[in-house]
Amino acid sequence: MTTPTGETLRGYNTLALDARAQAFAEVHSEQELLAALAQARALGLPVMPLGEGSNIVLAGSVAALVIRLGTRGIEVLARDAGTVSLRVAAGESWHGLVRWTLQQGYYGLENLALIPGTVGAAPIQNIGAYGVELASCVQRVNALQIGSDERLALSHQQCEFGYRDSVFKHRLRDKVVITSIDLQLSLRPAVSVEYPALAGYFEQHGITEPTPEAVFDAVVKIRRSRLPDPAVIPNAGSFFKNPIVEQTEAQRLQQVYPELPSYPQHDGRVKLSAAWMIDRCGWKGVRRGGVGVHAHHALVLVNYGSDSGAELLALASDIVSSVQGAFGVRLEIEPRVYGAGA
Ligand code: FAD
Ligand code: EPU
Repeated sequence: MTTPTGETLRGYNTLALDARAQAFAEVHSEQELLAALAQARALGLPVMPLGEGSNIVLAGSVAALVIRLGTRGIEVLARDAGTVSLRVAAGESWHGLVRWTLQQGYYGLENLALIPGTVGAAPIQNIGAYGVELASCVQRVNALQIGSDERLALSHQQCEFGYRDSVFKHRLRDKVVITSIDLQLSLRPAVSVEYPALAGYFEQHGITEPTPEAVFDAVVKIRRSRLPDPAVIPNAGSFFKNPIVEQTEAQRLQQVYPELPSYPQHDGRVKLSAAWMIDRCGWKGVRRGGVGVHAHHALVLVNYGSDSGAELLALASDIVSSVQGAFGVRLEIEPRVYGAGA
């Protein structure tokens, strides 16, 4: 099961970057996961959990035992008149889960259709799209603590979810392997269609009362028209987070750039569109060496054939400087960077 000699991770990340892992294991059960964790201890190696590799940048070899989660299973935990609770194994495909829940008549995940990756990775950055975040339906995240094998069951509140954020990026970073998540979904169709691109889609198609199935179809169509398929052009989705700034800062920018898309947050701060700022700086469609900025979406960096994450990170760094120079706003990279001293 465990490969103690370096294995290339090229086939295990959607940017198709070439980097070696010091050791690699693919696990299909909790027993195999426990064995891999014991192996890491025996080898004196840290552990890097891996799903589909759709939110990582490999900038050099990974000095860890990479454990790819291949566990499967969806269990109904409870059901009442209006809701159903599910436990879903970490290795399940996220989009597969969204499709399956809709087929069962379990609602709430439609807006999150077609997001690549595994269920276990979804809480890490609290995946979100088209006006909905994973946090809206998470009851619990179940995990094993790396080092002690202790089982943890984190309540919704303990996950400390935020925009592209959770406790797994802070206090529990590199400390746990998520084994499953518990979700509560609705048995009654209710849709969230306020996100501008989604509302615009229904208006354009003359759909006044969209069903959850119609939301799923619309999200899939919108995403296919804007985002490159990693199997065709390797990418990791949005390369930067949308920056959240104080209201005074947002007002200053809006006076100069009234078209800058901005989204008020619950705490009074304002989220700004990173794509718009990058686009405005002229980066959309730019190709540099083996990497570039996607022609349809300025937030997506793509790999045309580069082996190393270094070229991609150099481009990202120039984009950050250019946006900072033009708008005085500092962009943060969204995927997790591994290797090369990261
Ligand atoms: P990986 O890339 O394998 O891992 C990401 C991080 O999570 C790593 O640090 C890894 O160590 C850790 N990790 C993975 N599994 C576990 C586990 N079981 N336990 C502990 N740690 C773990 N994201 C959005 O939020 N919204 C979008 O709309 C969106 N669109 C995208 C579109 C494209 C084309 C692409 C390529 C990506 C997009 N993403 C989006 C980003 C990505 O799909 C999500 O972040 C996804 O949750 C990553 O899942 P993964 O299994 O590929 O994680
Ligand atoms: N825009 C531009 N130029 C571009 C692309 C977009 O000006 O090249 C403008 C659009 O016109 C729109 C605004 O930017 O007014 C926002 O664009 P979009 O709706 O595509 O959303 P986004 O903020 O760029 C975020 C997420 C995506 C998610 C979409 C849909 C982040 C970092 N990204 O992108 O998530 O799918 O919203 O909800 O929050 C990901 O995380 O990998 C990802 C793809």
